[in-house]
Amino acid sequence: MVLAHLAKHDFPTRSPLYAAIARELLDDDEVLALATGVAWHELPPMLLLAAVRHLLIAAPTEPLAAFHADLTENPRPPEEAYPLFREFALRHGDEITALVRSRAIQTNEVLRCACYMPAVALVPGALGTAEIGLVDVGSSAGLGMLLDHYAYDYGAAGSAGPAGAPVRLRCEVRGEVPPPLAAAPPRIAHRVGLDRAPVDVRDPDATRWLRASVWPGQGSRVELLLGALEAARADPPRIVAGDAVRDLPALLDEVPPELGVCVTTSVVLTYLGSERAAFAAALEEAGRRRPMAWVAYDTTHGIDRIEDAPPWVRALMDSGKVDCALVRLSLLTAAGREDRWLARSGYHGEWIEWMDAPD
Ligand SMILES: C[S@@+](CC[C@H](N)C(=O)[O-])C[C@H]1O[C@@H](n2cnc3c(N)ncnc32)[C@H](O)[C@@H]1O
Repeated sequence: MVLAHLAKHDFPTRSPLYAAIARELLDDDEVLALATGVAWHELPPMLLLAAVRHLLIAAPTEPLAAFHADLTENPRPPEEAYPLFREFALRHGDEITALVRSRAIQTNEVLRCACYMPAVALVPGALGTAEIGLVDVGSSAGLGMLLDHYAYDYGAAGSAGPAGAPVRLRCEVRGEVPPPLAAAPPRIAHRVGLDRAPVDVRDPDATRWLRASVWPGQGSRVELLLGALEAARADPPRIVAGDAVRDLPALLDEVPPELGVCVTTSVVLTYLGSERAAFAAALEEAGRRRPMAWVAYDTTHGIDRIEDAPPWVRALMDSGKVDCALVRLSLLTAAGREDRWLARSGYHGEWIEWMDAPD
């Protein structure tokens, strides 16, 4: 059962509040019944927890809000939360059931930009163009499409992006080789996103759900999300509602011919399932007609062609302790596809370890 797995493996280190709630929720059929009718792959317990958080964010004076670190200054101990969680959930049963039946878990992690921005910065050089046209697939609210708007702080390894940017992304650099940091961000002259469920940054209810999907107690994740949403509202990126495979070719064709096409996917392949091969094939087909680059940041479950990856990736897989995402730059041309496995990083962009040999 998903909830039992999360309670044992994921929540204890990442969200002590959800760990404490999940331990009791597991045996509480009356509360679990609020998510009855939701397919297992839609993660009913996660939807239930997000639905409660969604309501709490709008009602921060509720006693249960005092356990959520982003809703109070001094969060109460997680072990005391369950009776209040139960009472709140049952009191709002109809609203919660309506939410879990109509929504999907939806996130947008702006810090991931810190891990794939150095890869995007390699694209103009690789394609021989001064500027790029960005096509971001699985954009969510589009925060990852604005990677040239953010200031990046890589500690001793350096900084990048416009220094006065309102959104500042701090990423720990691990390992021997720092990521290559260009003086200026990549020049993006055209940008468009594609998502089956785009989030409008100007829609308060949709962005509240995005916030509610972040587990409580995850440090600065919520703060970063809110700051990036605020910045994006000034000039929201264009995101087309559609399917990653079916609707991709039309968006690639839109990119003006003088620009290098750069497709980005950030934790999307993991969700494509059986469509993943068709997605890669569509890109490879498009690359045969016009050279393009694909920057993929994804989990080891999602990223394709892992069997052809270099030894450091295979050693990671063989270790049985995969706790990172991978960053890859693929060049797609008439000659075929060439993959460059660049880095590994934290799932939410917290750290990066550059693995590509220096040029
Ligand atoms: C985990 S989120 C990642 C969002 C963002 N790229 C990030 O890294 O924060 C995955 C996104 O992919 C979208 N998605 C999943 N399957 C899709 C498909 N077949 N076509 C288009 N979008 C899809 C979801 O709606 C969701 O917004």
